[in-house]
Amino acid sequence: MIENVTFHDHKPQALSLYDAVVAGLSKSDKSIPPKFFYDQRGSELFDRICEQPEYYLPTVERRMLSSLAEEIANLTGTGRVLIEPGAGNAAKVRLLLDALRPSAFVPMDISFDYLKSSARALAVEYPWLPIHAACVDFTHSLPIPREVPNGPRLLFFPGSSLGNFSPSEAGGFLRLVHDTVGSGGMMLIGVDTKKSERVLNAAYNDAAGLTADFNLNLLQRMQQELDTDIDPEVFEHLAFYNDEEGCIEMHLVSTEEQTLRLNGHRFEFKKGETLHTENSYKYSQTEFINLVTENGFNEVRHWVDDDGLFAVYLVAVA
Ligand code: AVI
Repeated sequence: MIENVTFHDHKPQALSLYDAVVAGLSKSDKSIPPKFFYDQRGSELFDRICEQPEYYLPTVERRMLSSLAEEIANLTGTGRVLIEPGAGNAAKVRLLLDALRPSAFVPMDISFDYLKSSARALAVEYPWLPIHAACVDFTHSLPIPREVPNGPRLLFFPGSSLGNFSPSEAGGFLRLVHDTVGSGGMMLIGVDTKKSERVLNAAYNDAAGLTADFNLNLLQRMQQELDTDIDPEVFEHLAFYNDEEGCIEMHLVSTEEQTLRLNGHRFEFKKGETLHTENSYKYSQTEFINLVTENGFNEVRHWVDDDGLFAVYLVAVA
């Protein structure tokens, strides 16, 4: 029995995989929201993507967080309630815990099994830290468990996860964070920068093919969880930088003309037609500071690594 961890299931299925597939495949530009990537296998594949040399984001961010931990703690103070939406394996927060000494940690994730095992491991490693793990769809809400102590809050949102929202959804999410951390609250956020297309395209087309597996896993998930005749073998991974929009677009391309049947629905795919699975927006410093200020935060400080690959911002409720 591990005593410093509690679990809270906020039943995040606001939109089930079935509803998302029916709604997304009925559109003329077919799409499925990226949050459906993260079943157990998808979460594990994402962890492996983070170890690929082309996918520089986590390596650079980790290096930055390790060297900045004390400086960040001097700016935030210790003893805050630390909240991390999409915490996954909670690898990055470990770089900050000794410096930040939070009064409690609230990891949130959509995959409850994955969250439970990572929260348990963290609780064993940090016996002084009360952990309240919440199964949540953070794209909709950020419910804080009742057991969480009062006191100033700090929301940690690393990995450029904000980039998976469109700029207007990002604004909505930042307002939700603003209301969740409240007066005196802060947010520490990692953001991918705009840079050469070559570097960006390589990051989403790693040589080991893990990003392709991660993208195609969405179809395997549909095959396993829904009553559909989908064949993942007749789709291919596609990822490219859209310079005009400032984002990586990820798609699944149908390599044949095909019809997908699902519970009485029929969805036609032309050869070469795509199912849009993810956008990953990249932000210049000006774009990001404008976005946070428009949504109720002031910049406290920001840091960029020496190669300009990644940025970390500390912002406070205005
Ligand atoms: C989680 N998110 C920030 C990743 C990204 O870079 O947009 C997801 C990902 N998709 C493909 N590779 C990684």
